[in-house]
Amino acid sequence: MADHAILAGKRVLLVIAGGIAAYKSLDLIRRLRERGVTVRAVLTEAGARFVTPLSVQALTEDTVYRDLWSLTDESEMGHIRLSREADLLVVAPATANLLARMAAGMADDLAATVLLATDKPVLVAPAMNVRMWQHAATQANMALLESRGVRRVGPNEGVMACNEYGPGRMAEPMEIIDAIAALFAEDAHRPLAGLPLTGRHAVVTSGPTHEPIDPVRYIANRSSGKQGHAIAAALAKLGAAVTLVSGPTRLPDPAGCSVVHIETAREMLAACEAALPADIAVCAAAVADWRVDGASDRKLKKDGGGPPTLALTENPDILATLSRPGERRPTLVVGFAAETGDVLAYATAKRARKGCDWIVANDVSPGTGTFGGSDNTVHLIRADGTESWPTMPKDAVADRLAEAVAEHFAGK
Ligand code: PMT
Repeated sequence: MADHAILAGKRVLLVIAGGIAAYKSLDLIRRLRERGVTVRAVLTEAGARFVTPLSVQALTEDTVYRDLWSLTDESEMGHIRLSREADLLVVAPATANLLARMAAGMADDLAATVLLATDKPVLVAPAMNVRMWQHAATQANMALLESRGVRRVGPNEGVMACNEYGPGRMAEPMEIIDAIAALFAEDAHRPLAGLPLTGRHAVVTSGPTHEPIDPVRYIANRSSGKQGHAIAAALAKLGAAVTLVSGPTRLPDPAGCSVVHIETAREMLAACEAALPADIAVCAAAVADWRVDGASDRKLKKDGGGPPTLALTENPDILATLSRPGERRPTLVVGFAAETGDVLAYATAKRARKGCDWIVANDVSPGTGTFGGSDNTVHLIRADGTESWPTMPKDAVADRLAEAVAEHFAGK
């Protein structure tokens, strides 16, 4: 049996398609969770004829995602996020129908869509009648998927529910778990050499800061952390060791990053300085420029004397501090500029004032959705010119920025 210790803390998105073997997936969920794996499930329409959504929900202790067109599901967890916020996608049982749709690149239900949209490894556990498995179409689909990197466990040979004998039985839950553990172990031992940012350390700031007024109230802003977290993940994907210093967000920690959670600007600065030395610093956080001078350590009361006056005092500037020349200055310091007008002019001036190397300018005027939204339209301002990128998902902005960082270090 493979070593299952590697499974603790991993996130699996389990796609349950419609086959009699779906009942084994319930046991699979239970056994994965016993090993510390977080399991989130997508149940196809046909899958729901074999196992009930309630059973899956009870075992995963999470929402069961079923419908591509569910407004509630989409607003809580878009299908792209669903497919990315996992370390591995497991399809069990993988029916002939779903394998065919995966091979054809179809996106006609939630299961097929997440499988098409994912950037994570996919493991399938085929289960079907022996003739269906041996059919040239299924064999060709499976071969095509494997040539694209999809991994397979089973099917096993034996008596089938339809009383025929041969290969087609879904692998047993423990065999699937062994295959999952082996896949993660392979990943952990894959040398990172060859990735362009291997050996580089990046510090990334993300999210808002919360500046206390009293023990229960604070000053904050609308940053969700989506842009900063995506940048941390993108740099890690290119091999960098990433320290993400994050203000309070509702996002999960990105895979492969070491995350320091802070609340205030002063804590963010201390965490960034503690993380040095670094080759790269990217300041995507929306840091409060001011904090309350002498925040109360007791809850402010309505005592009839009218509203309290809040005196503000300036917070340290993290970007300017990291950019200051000196031995500890990261080689490449990238700031962001959140502007509501004259974006390029203000951002260019900000680059000079703060002393960073590059600045990523974005328009945060009302209606742009830049704060909190999923897309961003940015301009990358460097000493030698400005590139204006089209509107794209924040993940794509992050990938492109990480590639630019990698190119910068390529010759060094
Ligand atoms: O989090 P999201 O919802 O995904 O939204 C992304 C974003 C809009 C927050 C992000 O793209 C962005 O623009 N981040 C910078 C926000 C900001 O505070 O901009 P600024 O123009 O006020 O500050 C300029 C730079 O100085 C930024 O790099 C900021 O991190 C940094 N700064 C600001 C103040 C301060 N006290 N310390 C700093 O380091």
